[in-house]
Amino acid sequence: MVNRRPLIAGNWKMNFDHLRAVAFVQKIAWTLKDAKFSPTEVEVSFFPPFTDIRSVQTLIESDSLGFAFGAQDVSPFDEGAHTGDISAGFLKKLNCRYVIVGHSERRQDHSENDELVAAKTKAAVKHGLVPVICVGETSDDLEKFGASAVPVGQLRSVLAGLAAGSEIVVAYEPVWAIGSGQAATPAQAQDVCAALRAVIAEEISSESAEATRILYGGSVKSGNIASFMREKDVDGALVGGASLDAEEFAKIVQFPRHVIA
Ligand code: 13P
Repeated sequence: MVNRRPLIAGNWKMNFDHLRAVAFVQKIAWTLKDAKFSPTEVEVSFFPPFTDIRSVQTLIESDSLGFAFGAQDVSPFDEGAHTGDISAGFLKKLNCRYVIVGHSERRQDHSENDELVAAKTKAAVKHGLVPVICVGETSDDLEKFGASAVPVGQLRSVLAGLAAGSEIVVAYEPVWAIGSGQAATPAQAQDVCAALRAVIAEEISSESAEATRILYGGSVKSGNIASFMREKDVDGALVGGASLDAEEFAKIVQFPRHVIA
């Protein structure tokens, strides 16, 4: 049985300029230090807007804060005439560990389909980034097909053709739960995360399925994180709104103190 280190990831979306980003990361660091909480127990990662990444990198590295960081999107291309896009190679040069691909807001706002998400995933892996592959059903999908059919299909098409041994993270984010205050139940999150783990076993390998962290996202707060983390196939959370409040996010990160086995 592989021991999967929990990952709590804060997706800031289009919030915080680089000055606020630095103040925010400092505040989280002080809060966790005061609480004597070490980021070795739980991996903590920030996903700032592109314009903040260099500042966040400099702070985390110069103060050895032990946090990871990544970007919210990436181009499928290495370089060239793609105005406005950012390549995986550029992100790697900034020491990003992760990059989010296929977030439902990009699927909706920018018409990203599974084919493009697969290409972005491959570009990330090629440049040594760990893609955080987001999948999830809309409320219509939930009504028509149940909870797992759409996320399972999305993940299958992204993983097809991915080299064995590539490190990935998967985030199950039901679209109806994002920003709505209405999180999935822990049992539903568990069912879908287990189905996603089975897809990894089929498309890559059983070792990869065992090792891969699968996160739940959608209205995660300090009050519900422990109930998700008790589920055996939920290895962390991708947090949106609550990751913008330093005290709230610090409480979420400290979930092991509240999980009663
Ligand atoms: P909320 O936590 O605001 O529901 O957002 C979840 C999300 O989309 C994280 O990527």
